[in-house]
Amino acid sequence: MIHIPENLSAILYLVSGVCFILALRGLSSPVSARKGNLFGIAGMVIAVGTTAALPAVLSYEVIIAGIVIGGAIGTLIARKIEMTALPQLVAAFHSLVGLAACFVAAAAFYRPEAYGIGRFLDIGTASLIEMSVGLAIGAVTFTGSIIAFGKLQGLISGAPLVFPGQHFLNAILGIGLVALVVLLVQVQSEATFWSILALSLLIGVLIIVPIGGADMPVVISMLNSYSGWAACGIGFTLSNSLLIITGALVGSSGAILSYIMCKGMNRSFFSVILGGFGGESEAAGASHGDRAIKSGSAEDAAFIMENASSVIIVPGYGMAVAQAQHTLREIGDILRQRGVRVRYAIHPVAGRMPGHMNVLLAEANVPYDHVLELEEINRDFPQTDVAFVIGANDVTNPAAKTDPTSPIYGMPILDVENARTVLFVKRSLASGYAGVDNELFFRDNTMMLFADAKKMCEEIVISLS
Ligand code: TAP
Repeated sequence: MIHIPENLSAILYLVSGVCFILALRGLSSPVSARKGNLFGIAGMVIAVGTTAALPAVLSYEVIIAGIVIGGAIGTLIARKIEMTALPQLVAAFHSLVGLAACFVAAAAFYRPEAYGIGRFLDIGTASLIEMSVGLAIGAVTFTGSIIAFGKLQGLISGAPLVFPGQHFLNAILGIGLVALVVLLVQVQSEATFWSILALSLLIGVLIIVPIGGADMPVVISMLNSYSGWAACGIGFTLSNSLLIITGALVGSSGAILSYIMCKGMNRSFFSVILGGFGGESEAAGASHGDRAIKSGSAEDAAFIMENASSVIIVPGYGMAVAQAQHTLREIGDILRQRGVRVRYAIHPVAGRMPGHMNVLLAEANVPYDHVLELEEINRDFPQTDVAFVIGANDVTNPAAKTDPTSPIYGMPILDVENARTVLFVKRSLASGYAGVDNELFFRDNTMMLFADAKKMCEEIVISLS
């Protein structure tokens, strides 16, 4: 058994906390993300190593078994997971954080002496409050994350499940939960403890079912934040400073990320949480009467682009679905070799998760300096020959600027309409996630390229070679 003195463990926890802060900083940009990940790994190794060396640890068998089994499962999943399935993986992992918080709360309730917070059914008020907050948030995170996982994995319908009186019911249950916490502090009964757990599990389900599948990234980030606060609450119960620091970091970074996503979509956080938006939109945009559109082939697109002096590629959700990023990069490379200036424009909420497009383009080895954010590139569209919009829709829709009744009104958009020619690669005239038609499809300077994004890219590569 290795045991380290308390002062040293406090310093090591602090070092680990600093590593986590540096990890978050690194992960804020694709260029520094690898370094950020290394800081995260170092922080976690220090944290686990220090905890294992605390005098409170009596034997290593169970700890080692947990690390081996959990580590093996984690490694297997990480190696097999598809990039597009990351949101549901994150949701699944968050459910485990929530469950862990519930287990720690139950352990502290039944064996408080092991945590130095009193005796069974005779626990201090402050500890009871911390414990019940950790339990409630943990349980909400657990069931909420499972529902989010089910929706994203397609195991349950992604459509918002709304019914009359839903928000009223949730409010009543929320008040009931607070009442149970007050009761627990006063009577300290086992029944009250388990009632808090049961009610929180139910609330977790009820607050996530009304949210549409496509709004899930915001919800996952919100659940991420909850799991952080649950860990923070448990950190107080266990008097573990690292858990408090890390929980607060996760809690606040998740909340900030949810806010950034809502801002990028110009939707209020509450309109996302109250739900009922962003179901499956396949049927939308089906009827457009006899409106004229210009459609072209891969050869047309290849001809237009190789004769251009500048092309801006605008990827969106459809590129991710089709996994067209590698072939898209080939097009970019060929055009560059022929002297065309090629850049990629990224909208902050293109795709379905933060950084979705950046990750896919990085996976396809598109150099970072060819990839520009909305505010860096938007003013260049008027001097651009071709905007090549591949699987993107809402993020280019001018209704966001012109139609105050549109659900996307106020969202910043990539001004592709200002380019001399706009090429849209998509399979139909269907709308995107927000379910609104895009006027640009019918403009004189637009050519529609109807096909699956990857197939169209492959055909363009053939035409260019
Ligand atoms: P969307 O507006 O959803 O449009 C994607 C388009 O891709 C669709 O119109 C679809 O048209 C096309 N598509 C689908 N599969 C395709 C395939 N295999 N090949 C070619 N095209 C395909 O996407 P966007 O422009 O990226 O905008 C993102 C939307 O998601 C925004 O409304 C945003 O607010 C929302 N959102 C984003 C996030 C984050 S954090 N990124 C989170 C939640 C919500 P067809 O069916 O005609 O092919």
